[in-house]
Amino acid sequence: MGAVILGTGSCLPDRVLSNHDLEKIVETSDEWIRTRTGIKTRRISGKGEEAYRLATVAGQRAMEMAGVTAEEIDLIVVATISSHMLMPSCACFVQKELGAVKAFAFDINAACSGFLFGLDMVDKYLRADREKKILLIGAETLSSHTDWEDRNTCILFGDGAGAVVMGYRDEARGVVASNLFSDGNLWSLLCMHAAPSCNPDLNPPQHPGTHILMEGREVFKYAVKAMEGAVLDLLAREKVDLDTIGLMIPHQANIRILNKLVSRLGLPAEKVFINVQKYGNTSAASIPIALDEASREGRLKPDDLLLVCSFGGGFTWGAALVRW
Ligand code: ACO
Repeated sequence: MGAVILGTGSCLPDRVLSNHDLEKIVETSDEWIRTRTGIKTRRISGKGEEAYRLATVAGQRAMEMAGVTAEEIDLIVVATISSHMLMPSCACFVQKELGAVKAFAFDINAACSGFLFGLDMVDKYLRADREKKILLIGAETLSSHTDWEDRNTCILFGDGAGAVVMGYRDEARGVVASNLFSDGNLWSLLCMHAAPSCNPDLNPPQHPGTHILMEGREVFKYAVKAMEGAVLDLLAREKVDLDTIGLMIPHQANIRILNKLVSRLGLPAEKVFINVQKYGNTSAASIPIALDEASREGRLKPDDLLLVCSFGGGFTWGAALVRW
């Protein structure tokens, strides 16, 4: 039927940064962060924990579950906005680390929606070439792009990576459909500038730095509306009743966005997987990390209908249905 997830894996940095630790860095409190975001801790990379290294370990764990070796991988796609280098891609570093000698490799950037956009792309690749084995990874070290003096943003983000191995199967499971959107007009509400250009003519008059800039309230409003719309459109188009969804894994942005989305959709809380309290917002890595945890915890049973949805900088957003 389509592109099937054959294995999942994830990798988080060792260092845990709690809200109490943040109280020592900026004027904030554990209580404020928990009630506004639901986040209690997040992981922050230390030496040797660049995005490609987290991605490599997540990829190895996914391959192990799938029973696929590095030599069998044909394509590596990494969704990221925080690789340690602009060139080569994070995916090329992963290819080198894994020894995936026959794979070609590249990155995609759709911010927090990167994994979802990648899932759609891999589904189409596999429908065109059914023999391929593809490693799709979301990997981020947003700690490199966080203004640690800005309490509005530094409390939100964390580092980590999640991965899936995908292949085509003639079975009634796999990616059913997806529904993707972008609106570049709204770019400035959530953005991150590149490093100052070597060509002074291309620099903004005052370079704002390379950390994440965000209009939190605007992002909140758009995120809820956009994800709700993407999910409802997709369900209507595919003639899927919300009651038949086994589990929803949304992008783990923050608990208030998720609570609002879930109550507007009318999904029971037990059908929604949430781990934002442990890892904060890990951007493109959040869905595959959650997927790995959900699958290893037995939250997904064969034939379950999985709903994923995301929203991020661009703006980019969407939803997908996967028969497990
Ligand atoms: N600790 C204590 N006080 C704080 C903190 C903090 N960490 N951050 C902001 N405040 C203060 C503000 O300065 C403000 O004080 P003031 O009234 O004296 O000016 C007050 O708290 C209220 O600030 P708001 O920005 O209005 O707070 P809000 O209730 O909107 O919550 C938040 C802020 C959590 C960022 C919210 O807007 C939000 O969740 N937005 C979505 C952002 C998001 O999830 N971004 C992730 C990227 S996009 C994605 O992944 C979907």
